[in-house]
Amino acid sequence: MSSVVIVGTQWGDEGKGKITNALASCAEMVVRFQGGANAGHTVSVNREPVVFHLLPSGISVPGVKCVLGPGVVIDPHALSSEIEGVRARGIEVSGNLMIDIGAHMVMPYHKAMEAAQEKSRGGSAIGTTLRGIGPAYSDRCARDGLTIGELASFDDFAAKAKVAAGRKNDLLVKLYGAEPLDIEEMISEMRPIAEHLAPHLADATRVVRRAISEGDSVLFEGAQGTLLDVAFGTYPFVTSSHTIAAGVAAGAGIPPSMVGEVVGIAKAYVTRVGAGPFPTEIGGPAAAELRERGHEWGSTTGRSRRCGWLDIPALRYSIDLNGMTRLIVTKLDVLDTFEAIPVCVGYEIDGERTDVFPRRGDLLDRAKPVYEELPGWQESTVEARTERDLPANALAYLRNIEERTGTKVSAVSVGAAAHAVVEFASVM
Ligand code: IMP
Ligand code: MG
Repeated sequence: MSSVVIVGTQWGDEGKGKITNALASCAEMVVRFQGGANAGHTVSVNREPVVFHLLPSGISVPGVKCVLGPGVVIDPHALSSEIEGVRARGIEVSGNLMIDIGAHMVMPYHKAMEAAQEKSRGGSAIGTTLRGIGPAYSDRCARDGLTIGELASFDDFAAKAKVAAGRKNDLLVKLYGAEPLDIEEMISEMRPIAEHLAPHLADATRVVRRAISEGDSVLFEGAQGTLLDVAFGTYPFVTSSHTIAAGVAAGAGIPPSMVGEVVGIAKAYVTRVGAGPFPTEIGGPAAAELRERGHEWGSTTGRSRRCGWLDIPALRYSIDLNGMTRLIVTKLDVLDTFEAIPVCVGYEIDGERTDVFPRRGDLLDRAKPVYEELPGWQESTVEARTERDLPANALAYLRNIEERTGTKVSAVSVGAAAHAVVEFASVM
């Protein structure tokens, strides 16, 4: 398979980073095509957890080329310090990282604007990661953005950035009553960062197209998840990019015909950070158990993640929308202690039963999950490496997902360690 897309089927944090990292050893290239430092991909490197925000999860695999495509929004400060951080752990970042010149930058004023906007939303705040993602994509669409390629000619960049920051300062002060940014300081802090990132800047899209046409294995690493897609997620409680497989072509600069197989990553239960509808959300001791056992605190913001049961209609929606041909189920081991495991197979909305995921937010808000209860296995799956090692009820849990979605489960992850995987069929 020459190109494989990894996409989250839920609201992010499905474990895409671990899977991408594992598959990267069979690939020549890993490409990010959307999102920015709002992502938090936890990967185990030499048995130590490492969180990547902007760097593709293949960066720790020797010989793999990593690309930040034009659809990514890059906070140059965040990227620069992330590169230093991983280098300090002995991971090489040099010719193996390419940043596409067309990627837009997240500037300090984007973060300031987002903080002011979220504050002004009051009770209807989105609960964003405050990484400046929405304002940076807004500026790109409004044709007010700055691409990272512009850093190559620093004085021209500085002149444009001053004008842009001046306008944002007006908004910050006059509209939101917030503090203005120190523009001179912003520019002077950027100069060493521009020099630091310069060797990585290139028309990376050409390199990606060439790699695919030459038959290299290229992995496209999605960030966030399908239900956070700006057009197909639970709008307005979404992120500002196309997280779905359809975002790969425009976000990586390749023709749609080069987008290969789409693999969906589904956590064995569901979590969400930030506000917005979540029909299968639970509270009480079961939620606390999922959160504790699954370490469900945001890897970017440290926020406690909302927890709930697997939602089959939402999963079917994701599979359908992305053209997913197989699933990888993650964190199955988190369910090891439960005596019974509810799985949502449909909803009741205003007294009517449906098994279709309603895209409308108001309907999702009123959707009451209809559960089927599956027996738990109450046995550790952490050491399982082959199908035979899995308890019968754990296998039945996976088979139920396959039957209800009509999609094969290729592998299941049973722990944070890189090798804690049971593979049913080879993915790459
Ligand atoms: P933003 O992407 O920071 O604008 O946040 C918009 C919504 O997406 C908020 O609910 C965030 O919590 C959520 N979000 C953004 N990135 C991630 C992620 O990587 N994992 C999970 N949720 C995310
Ligand atoms: Mg995450």
